[in-house]
Amino acid sequence: MLNGKRILLIVAGGIAAFKSLELIRRLRERGASVRCVLTEAGAKFVTPLSLQALSEDRVYSDMFSLTDESEMGHIQLSRDADLLVVAPATANVLARMAAGLADDLAATVLLATDKPVLVAPAMNVRMWTHAATVANVETLKKRGINFVGPNDGAMACNEFGPGRMSEPEEIVAATAALLAPQEKPLAGKRAVVTSGPTREAIDPVRYISNHSSGKQGHAIASALASLGADVTLVSGPVTLADPPGLRTVHVDSAEQMLAACLSAGRIDVAVCAAAVADWKAARPATAKIKKKADAAPPALELVPNPDILATLSRPGPQRPALVVGFAAETENLVANAIEKRQRKGCDWIVANDVSPAAGTFGGESNTVHLISAAGVEDWPTLAKGDVALRLAGRIARHFGRPAKAEAAE
Ligand code: CTP
Repeated sequence: MLNGKRILLIVAGGIAAFKSLELIRRLRERGASVRCVLTEAGAKFVTPLSLQALSEDRVYSDMFSLTDESEMGHIQLSRDADLLVVAPATANVLARMAAGLADDLAATVLLATDKPVLVAPAMNVRMWTHAATVANVETLKKRGINFVGPNDGAMACNEFGPGRMSEPEEIVAATAALLAPQEKPLAGKRAVVTSGPTREAIDPVRYISNHSSGKQGHAIASALASLGADVTLVSGPVTLADPPGLRTVHVDSAEQMLAACLSAGRIDVAVCAAAVADWKAARPATAKIKKKADAAPPALELVPNPDILATLSRPGPQRPALVVGFAAETENLVANAIEKRQRKGCDWIVANDVSPAAGTFGGESNTVHLISAAGVEDWPTLAKGDVALRLAGRIARHFGRPAKAEAAE
């Protein structure tokens, strides 16, 4: 199942390094070729000779070795593989990856690669749960690094908990899943997704905005991209990282968001998940508005913002084949959303409850209803990522090319 696949295995310094020998054997049994990079600390646990014997290839360890560089430069080493696997990935390796260091061959290869990376962490339970490691793992996941494990269990240091490296067979399974041909039912389709809040200036230091985190919109953009769509994410100010594998355009105001959507050119699907401010200041002040002891507080005159969803839904040759809006409601959710779909002229509405008790704004999960001309579908409470995948699957089905997961529902 891994026939002809080339794995670059990076072995770092941990007691679990002995399992990497078994990992090489099992990867090769499945038809993959394995080439190893051994860190200095890794060499304290396994010898280059054992890695070389099992991989039947030379082992690379020295960044500045003339022989290594003449045979295979470190850039080529990082590119000449289908997948990089770091096993064991110690706390130190994860920290160096997160910081973007290039202080040895392993770190340099990881920084220079344009290939997917799978890491199998292995460390003491306290190191794994330390805030520094937790933050590093989060950073790496956001950048698209794939993780397998760690597992719970007794460790060499006599402690118990998460930190044991996954078993070789689990790492092989994760490798196979990453290298399996991906279904791309939205290949060739162009999508625009709006996400996050907008900010409407009152003066150079003050603005009107809302609590949208952008999590749902960003997840939808990623899900569409994972199904092969060419995605432009138009994001208001959020603290999320730009998702990998798509184009992100950063905007502040509703006007800018609309302009960015319109300049994306011909698109097949638009998903408006942004919480666009409905109003903006009629005349934003060009200088900071000062308090005056004897004057009343300033009155803020508001004017409506353009409605991006309604604009994109307008009939005409430019209209995307599918326009999806969201309805953020605090009461009469479904009835308001049905009315909103008609008023805005979009095809589907994803209705979600944004009352504080529902915890949707900034939260990790969402309970939504999908409203279309065909009726109302109630979806179970799902993580925002799963809502996104399900919606992307629905979109693929709309274009006549079901994604496997969606078809299996
Ligand atoms: N929307 C938009 N541009 C606006 C306002 C809203 O594109 N100026 C989009 C949102 O991205 C969402 C949908 O319209 O997809 C509905 O947003 P919502 O805030 O629920 O509705 P409103 O238009 O604000 O209507 P109401 O105030 O009646 O709830």
